[in-house]
Amino acid sequence: MSQKKNKNIDFGYKNISIDKKKDLVKDVFDKVASKYDFVNDISSFGLHRYWKNELIYLLAPQKHQVLGDLAGGTGDIAKRYLLNGGGKADIIDINFNMIQRGITKSISKNLRHLVGNCESIPIKDNTYDRVSIAFGLRNITYREKALKEVYRILKPGGRFVCLEFSHVENKVIKNLYDIWSFKFLPSLGELISDNRKAYQYLVESIRMFPNQEQLSYLMTKTNFSRVKYKNLSQGIVAIHSGWKI
Ligand SMILES: C[S@@+](CC[C@H](N)C(=O)[O-])C[C@H]1O[C@@H](n2cnc3c(N)ncnc32)[C@H](O)[C@@H]1O
Repeated sequence: MSQKKNKNIDFGYKNISIDKKKDLVKDVFDKVASKYDFVNDISSFGLHRYWKNELIYLLAPQKHQVLGDLAGGTGDIAKRYLLNGGGKADIIDINFNMIQRGITKSISKNLRHLVGNCESIPIKDNTYDRVSIAFGLRNITYREKALKEVYRILKPGGRFVCLEFSHVENKVIKNLYDIWSFKFLPSLGELISDNRKAYQYLVESIRMFPNQEQLSYLMTKTNFSRVKYKNLSQGIVAIHSGWKI
């Protein structure tokens, strides 16, 4: 189903006019930018580092290759890619505050920071050997359009890897995870970053995001080949990948 035909869309559990989602998402990240990395560590018990390392392993960084890291935020993925042997990387994010936060921390001349929307990426066709997106696709209004853009900017033979919160199947773990998410996480977010709403949006948007099979279908529909996924931490997150062949 094309998202563009609908006038409304989910923003967490809220049903909003589709035109408003981009600004509401921007507002969330404007407010959390200064403490984003710190809250990530606390709220995931540091697990996001392990999840990101798994993503880097699939990207298999090489000196002659260039990565486009979409919705790259403060640049965790691109920096890890370079530190693990990658040649060059671009961080592309719609939010200047998130990018700026990353620039102050960045050290490499092989790293570029670009402000841009994943739905219309300011990059020419067939540019990157690898494209990644970590915890970004969930926030994008027109996901199908963004996936088509990913396909366009990948070189033939290139690989796309997506790390995103997903769906837990084990009932016991799902119940515990729901208690943590709904009863504790928003309060923790409020305590640390003075922003309960951003963390309420986080937990709700995770539940509204397509599950593992649905996202695989969307990637296949947007032309990716050999689409597969791997669950991490019981499906709390999943890494999807596909090739441009
Ligand atoms: C949860 S953060 C993830 C940041 C980083 N990838 C990481 O894993 O730490 C989501 C990022 O997506 C960005 N974003 C949301 N919508 C976007 C869009 N349409 N195009 C580009 N970036 C977008 C936000 O600005 C934010 O920096």
